[in-house]
Amino acid sequence: MEVVLKILHFFSILFAGGVTVGSGVIQAAYLRAGEAPPPYIGKAFALLGYIGLGSIVALWVTGIGLSYLIYGGMAINGAFHVKLLGAAIVLGISAYANLHVHQAIKAKRPPNAALMKRLVQSGRLGLVLAIGGAAVAFSG
Ligand code: HEM
Repeated sequence: MEVVLKILHFFSILFAGGVTVGSGVIQAAYLRAGEAPPPYIGKAFALLGYIGLGSIVALWVTGIGLSYLIYGGMAINGAFHVKLLGAAIVLGISAYANLHVHQAIKAKRPPNAALMKRLVQSGRLGLVLAIGGAAVAFSG
């Protein structure tokens, strides 16, 4: 069970990171060109957003499972709490960004590019805290 949860945890990290880097690069290209993405790219952004949110939810589900299975709870150490803070930032940002994109698509207007850029940057900060926290928390 532990191995299965770890594999799913690591795949979720791959997807969450991939979405953050991928959408950041495409977004920066559009911002540099001073153009709004066409609707079919907007839909691809929305799909990336759902994949990102799905993977961060999977990180929480598998992470909570691993915490109880390996450590008997969530009170592991200080660095683990930094990791949880980072993971909570990523979850909040991802949920908010998805809501914003969903509302923009429904209203047939492009998402706010400046807001999306700030959200992607804050999501990156959350990932850095979560990965840095994990490295310190689980080093002997
Ligand atoms: C953005 C979110 C997250 C990232 C980037 C992340 C990253 C990582 C990484 C890199 C590891 C491997 C560490 C190692 O084995 O040395 C790991 C393991 C682990 N993570 Fe996460 N994680 C996230 C969210 C969570 C959450 C929300 C929880 C708990 C609620 C959690 C609990 C754990 C546990 C218990 C392990 C296994 C530690 C061990 O093998 O002893 N993670 N995580």
